[in-house]
Amino acid sequence: MTDPQLVLAERVQQALATAFGAEYAAEDPLIRPSQFADYQANVAMSLAKRLRRGPRDVAQEIAANLDLPGTVEVSGPGFLNLRFDDAWIAAEAGVMLADERLAVPRELPAKTVVVDYSAPNAAKEMHVGHLRTTVVGDALVRVQEHLGNRVVRQNHLGDWGTPFGMLVEHLLDIGEEAAVAQLEAGNGNDYYQAARAKFDTDAEFNRRARARVVTLQAEDPETMRLWRLFMDATVRYFNKVYTQLGVTLTDDDIAGESMYNHALAQVCDELQERGIAEISDGALCVFPPGFTGRESQPLPFMIRKSDGGYGYATTDMATIRYRVQDLKADRLLYVIGATQALHMQMLFASAKLAGWLPDHVSAEHVQIGSVLGSDGKMFKTRAGKSIKLLELLDEAETRAAAVLADRPNLDETARGEIAHMVGMGAVKYADLSVSHDSEYVFDFDRMLALTGNTGPYLQYATTRIRSIFRGGAHDPAGSYGPIVITHPAERALALQLLGFGGVVTEVGERNEPHRLCGYLFDLASAFTTFYENCPVLKADSEENRQSRLALSQLTLRVLLQGLDLLGITAPERM
Ligand code: ARG
Repeated sequence: MTDPQLVLAERVQQALATAFGAEYAAEDPLIRPSQFADYQANVAMSLAKRLRRGPRDVAQEIAANLDLPGTVEVSGPGFLNLRFDDAWIAAEAGVMLADERLAVPRELPAKTVVVDYSAPNAAKEMHVGHLRTTVVGDALVRVQEHLGNRVVRQNHLGDWGTPFGMLVEHLLDIGEEAAVAQLEAGNGNDYYQAARAKFDTDAEFNRRARARVVTLQAEDPETMRLWRLFMDATVRYFNKVYTQLGVTLTDDDIAGESMYNHALAQVCDELQERGIAEISDGALCVFPPGFTGRESQPLPFMIRKSDGGYGYATTDMATIRYRVQDLKADRLLYVIGATQALHMQMLFASAKLAGWLPDHVSAEHVQIGSVLGSDGKMFKTRAGKSIKLLELLDEAETRAAAVLADRPNLDETARGEIAHMVGMGAVKYADLSVSHDSEYVFDFDRMLALTGNTGPYLQYATTRIRSIFRGGAHDPAGSYGPIVITHPAERALALQLLGFGGVVTEVGERNEPHRLCGYLFDLASAFTTFYENCPVLKADSEENRQSRLALSQLTLRVLLQGLDLLGITAPERM
């Protein structure tokens, strides 16, 4: 085991068991970063009361029983200051260097993780909110797969419902070819608005649209053909966005609302028969316990409207049943806007009530915070026009090219590819580096900066390491080492490297890619300090040169692997 915090936790727990009895072996040792040592353990303070002893006394006893590849010191009211031996750090870094997986443990036993993400609505332009659920969701699936879990992607497209009546009629009005061209080009919003305007003002169109909803629901073949035409063109546009972003979603992952069409009546019947749902004001509702509205009356989770129509809640009940019963999920991740938190909570509670969400399956709403414009409002429009995602991504690349304009020695094709990687890296990293549930302001200048916690900074950090290898005509994939610690900056870098597996595991457990971003940023900073203090190619001995090349190589591999888990590629030069 390489992860320093886990090593310490285990050793302190062993000491607790030896000193106070086996029942203390599972106690959280409260390992924290420390100013005075590598880490500190705070467990003595929390145990003192229970043991009816002074915290310092407890700390002394833990220390006396602690078997550590390093030193321990009791300080203050009962902190245990823990410091690893240099030799241990060097040896563990060597283990990591020799390991293809960079000491990232596999999750055992492997789980089936179903991840619902992206999920744009076909009747509208895909907007930056969907960009963020796409980018965060894609990072989470990459991490889960890397941990060895079986991942099932579910792109729950908004591809069904009453608006499709007017969308199909509008398609007939403007002609199939023109409609397809418009949708493929990403003008879904204009299309929707034109249909909507006619629906509101043109009585004849309105009548046709309503009639079309009926034939659509009856799955009349010609209507289905037109609907599919509409959907295929729309999905071709979504795919352009996915391709440009380098997102792993494919057509096989589409599991839109329409997929559950046939299940909805049955979902409602079953829940009504079993008394889980009841009629209230003509609508069929579940009243999950613990949800109340004003004057504490129970809040309904409405699965069938009084007009007999089904809605978002009905479909989502069907998603849970399908994912648990058919896909055999152990974990369900719903990577969806934070604004839908109440819907998700009521959904999970209703599904529990129905017995569709057994205790061994965890359902998790990964809340995605809104992306704001510089005016602090939802970033949906610019100069009154809705922002087209593909244009936004193009702009990111153009701006990245401008940032790189003064870099020498890059030919034109390389420039184009680099600008693409840097532009996409910048946009994705901005979505990932703040905690997923907080809002942030979309700002090209900030996300493209070559300094600070940005995608381009980390990409640049990898190219700097590559250039060290180029400078010495060394192969960055060659074999170097052994690693020895001769300077505090080497020690700090190696210790930081050892934390990689723990961070990746934690991201998988908590669905928090920003932790990996923070880790990689700290790693790049530790490398900078190392490089400023410890000459690599001009090291004073061959032993040190080998060790420093090995540390550089390990840093490069961890940065590249970490970025890859975030869905970001790094150019060889920039
Ligand atoms: N289409 C929805 C939206 O744009 C997101 C759907 C998320 N998935 C789900 N199972 N509810 O807000």
